[in-house]
Amino acid sequence: MRTDTGQVFKLEDYRPSDYLIPQTRLTFRLSPEATVVVAELTIERRAELKTVTPLALDGDGLTLQRIEVDGKAVPLSAYVAGPDQLVLNAPPAKAKFTLVTETRIDPAHNEALMGLYRSSNVYCTQCEAEGFRRITYFLDRPDILSVYTVRIEASRQEAPLLLSNGNPVKSGNLADGWHYAVWEDPHPKPSYLFALVAGDLGKIEDRFVTMSGRDVALGIYVEHGKERLAGYAMDALKRSMKWDEDLFGCEYDLDVFNIVAVSDFNMGAMENKGLNIFNDKYVLADEETATDADFANIEAIIAHEYFHNWTGNRITCRDWFQLCLKEGLTVYRDHEFSADQRSRGVKRIAEVRTLRALQFPEDQGPLAHPVRPRRYREINNFYTATVYEKGSEVVRMIRTLLGAETFRAGMDLYFLRHDGQAATIEDFVQVFADVSGRDLSQFALWYNQAGTPNLTVSSHYDAGEKVLTLEIEQSVPPTPSESRKRLMHIPLAFGLVGKDGKDLPYKAADGATVENGVIHVRKRRHTVRFSGVTERPALSLNRGFSAPVTLSVAQKTDDQFFLAAHDKDAFSRWQAVNTLLSDALIAAFRRQRGGKKPDFTARLGELAGSIAANDDLEPAYRALALTLPSEADIAREIGKDIDPDAIFAAREALATFVASTNKQRFEALYASLLDNRPFSPDAASAGRRALRNVLLDYLSRLNGGVESAARHFKAATNMTDLAASLTVLAHRHPGSPQADAAIAAFAAKFASDPLVMDKWFQIQASVPGPQAVETVRALMTHPAFSSTNPNRLRSLIGTFSSGNQTGFHRADGAGYRFFAETVLEIEKRNPQVAARLATALRSWRSLETGRQAKAREALLTMANTPNLSADLRDIIDRTLA
Ligand code: TRP
Ligand code: ZN
Repeated sequence: MRTDTGQVFKLEDYRPSDYLIPQTRLTFRLSPEATVVVAELTIERRAELKTVTPLALDGDGLTLQRIEVDGKAVPLSAYVAGPDQLVLNAPPAKAKFTLVTETRIDPAHNEALMGLYRSSNVYCTQCEAEGFRRITYFLDRPDILSVYTVRIEASRQEAPLLLSNGNPVKSGNLADGWHYAVWEDPHPKPSYLFALVAGDLGKIEDRFVTMSGRDVALGIYVEHGKERLAGYAMDALKRSMKWDEDLFGCEYDLDVFNIVAVSDFNMGAMENKGLNIFNDKYVLADEETATDADFANIEAIIAHEYFHNWTGNRITCRDWFQLCLKEGLTVYRDHEFSADQRSRGVKRIAEVRTLRALQFPEDQGPLAHPVRPRRYREINNFYTATVYEKGSEVVRMIRTLLGAETFRAGMDLYFLRHDGQAATIEDFVQVFADVSGRDLSQFALWYNQAGTPNLTVSSHYDAGEKVLTLEIEQSVPPTPSESRKRLMHIPLAFGLVGKDGKDLPYKAADGATVENGVIHVRKRRHTVRFSGVTERPALSLNRGFSAPVTLSVAQKTDDQFFLAAHDKDAFSRWQAVNTLLSDALIAAFRRQRGGKKPDFTARLGELAGSIAANDDLEPAYRALALTLPSEADIAREIGKDIDPDAIFAAREALATFVASTNKQRFEALYASLLDNRPFSPDAASAGRRALRNVLLDYLSRLNGGVESAARHFKAATNMTDLAASLTVLAHRHPGSPQADAAIAAFAAKFASDPLVMDKWFQIQASVPGPQAVETVRALMTHPAFSSTNPNRLRSLIGTFSSGNQTGFHRADGAGYRFFAETVLEIEKRNPQVAARLATALRSWRSLETGRQAKAREALLTMANTPNLSADLRDIIDRTLA
């Protein structure tokens, strides 16, 4: 494990390396506890350098066995080899030389899951961001692009399958039952894209012929016996390959494309060139074991990793500060892909919900950082919702500013100009400035300035003049190390909705700030005048969520109800419903704290009923509109002095109110949505299931609710319905015989399927209430749990800490104490996963004072633990700062 050196890396300190490594030849002799790695590196001194400087290669926990330069052993006095570095004090003065090193590593005991490790007896690698240095000494930085040849040797019995990047060129037998394979990747790549897989795996195969006629062999490798579960992923892969050609002109560039699913994986998946490695959760699916959400995630992540082939691999990042160059852009591309494959409106709403749930709290708390950070202590901690999701929103805004056609021209120029390079955000923004002739300098602040901007909007309609005036004011709240903010360029899409529900025509007085339905907010205060507006409109703002901002709009409740029924923009229509629900919940919370019962307007209950029954709306949309803001959503809106128990009570009260207002309607609709056709994971079928399950949740709060949920559970023929009904039973009727029986039946049926048991852990870890701490503690001793597997840890500990407000934030602090103790245990094996879990405490300052003090104690317990990893130290220090 890496302990903290306290070093801070800064963007402004970037400097190209003195040496390059144009060629890398690696030989692996695989053995579980003693793998030998021989690296033969062609090293070039940068032509412009006048003097010979020391060559310092990165390592992490390595021991050097052998070192040669140009075929000759290097004397001990000429180098210094430590676990973290290999320094040649006086490398050969010539322009080019060969360095051979041999290291020995222990994949079987690699529990951090970075570098070369074993997962269920399969050798696999994870090198992003800095895992390659745990394999061999190297210039382990993304601007060092090298052509790799990889020879893998292993026992044929232990590892019949030998995979690496690029194309297979040779294979054969060796003595003693060993064999070998050689792979060549002709595309220069950074070390973080290196991959190796060896083991005994099952395979499914397919082919894809690219737009210029290249015939690509596709393979997905999974545990033997699970081949059948990889079919959906393969289908998603082929659709992704076609879509990237059609939409971006991006064609695949090798003869093979392989995907391997492994069960121990720190994140979702990894885009290694020609050899993507996946968390098996994002490959394996059938109707009996995967929910509709799982299918959608598989489709999106298969696409995401595939799309990286151009946005990330062909054009990579100059340094890790530029991470959003590949991640934000690739998330934008996978969002667009899913929108094209499914329902665009519904997809957009889901994206915004994710952004608000994950990125807004980050931006509004102690871990806030710009989409392109300027400093880090541990880069692993910057694979964040800000870099990924807000990074994607910034790309989306560029398209909004430029229009679809000019945006595509910019992307074409990006590929043309930077193919084969390690690029920066400045390079990326420049292509769009060049194709559009626009000045994007103010816009580029979105990459450099942290915090969620707020727009305050008020309006005035002059019926006599037929003029609508908007007053818009922007502000960006202070964030850590950025106390003073500059003004941003915010594209605010809007519509003026008339009484008939159609958008009213208008003339904008100031043509520069209003363009194609978008107000360009660039100053602190704007007054925008619209003339020729024939009636007082309802204001529809931030349509399609054109900018990742918060809005404070003085608007009549009547207008909200009107927009909730009539806005032609699906996102804004949903937003109107969501705002009404959210406002009602906040009011109920305040009454709750004041010791009063909530009172909800009948109108709100009727709105829910009319949305549910409106057959003109997609079922998936209706399901989203009927889903109440989460407890965390409400806490975020309230912002301070949070009491999770009062929020929970308010939310339960509204759910019961909506259910009882609409009992007959919901029952009838629930019954009509039963689908007897064979299962299909398509978006429309999934939408009907989603709506039916939302209705089940409402109805479960009324008389007979437990019986109907139990019936739903018994009759379920797919995992979506099974997991939804188990959730309803466990959450709404905890301790009931029906809930206990369902929990036991589920475990008995799926005991040997770890991915399904993850759902079982999740459902129980999120049962609201103070007992959750004991439940989770007990489940940690369940045979299906494993304290070394990241998926298990996230299902149980992650769900408890990030998905159970009343349990985690238990008033006596027991949730925090258990959490701190557990995170410290996990950290000993896997610092990356521990650090990510620890971010659950980032909003501790918005809690009421009692909980705040207890959360702080737990943070201090962690902070005062000696020898913390850089990963956890960084998160805890920033959270407390
Ligand atoms: N680059 C990967 C992606 O977004 C994610 C990734 C980064 C990752 N670091 C990792 C995956 C470490 C596993 C482990 O597609
Ligand atoms: Zn990615």
